[in-house]
Amino acid sequence: MKVLFFLFLGILWIQGHPIDNAPIDVATRSMAPRDMGVSTHEDHDKLWFVVNWSKVENVDKTDPILGYKVKIWKVKKVKSTVYASNADGKFVPMEVEALPELDLQKDPSDELTVIDVPADKTEVTYHGMKKKVTYEIAVYAYTAKNKGTSSNKMRIEVEPDKGD
Ligand SMILES: *[C@@H]1O[C@H](CO)[C@@H](O)[C@H](O)[C@H]1NC(C)=O
Repeated sequence: MKVLFFLFLGILWIQGHPIDNAPIDVATRSMAPRDMGVSTHEDHDKLWFVVNWSKVENVDKTDPILGYKVKIWKVKKVKSTVYASNADGKFVPMEVEALPELDLQKDPSDELTVIDVPADKTEVTYHGMKKKVTYEIAVYAYTAKNKGTSSNKMRIEVEPDKGD
């Protein structure tokens, strides 16, 4: 019976901790931009894309949303070795090149452009887009005190025209 009693106390103590941080956590999470969309545009030789999202409402009037940061990575393919069977049925190492998996928790270490967007706007244009380059995009809102949780991420790539 004594053991059970202590276990119970232990659980109460552990559960007590996240509650201390809950208000900040809830605020930053409710600042995550929703409905992010990306459209690509082409005019003659110029290629660009437009990112938009729904306006994020203030969580705290005394610490309003100051703007958004739009993060755009140029994601590079990574080489890895896989084993595949050859014509003789033997497993041989083969080098393959593929995009790393889209990871919502971890940002790529690739070349990054950050565009600052004022709070009264909910879209941004990225000029100078290139064909055959994979762009990974995420948006977050910020206040003077807080950095909001990031939106969902998106990846886009424009295929080259036939004959390019
Ligand atoms: C983003 O732009 C597209 C195309 O202009 C529009 O249809 C869509 O509703 C916009 N999304 C948001 C969240 O404003």
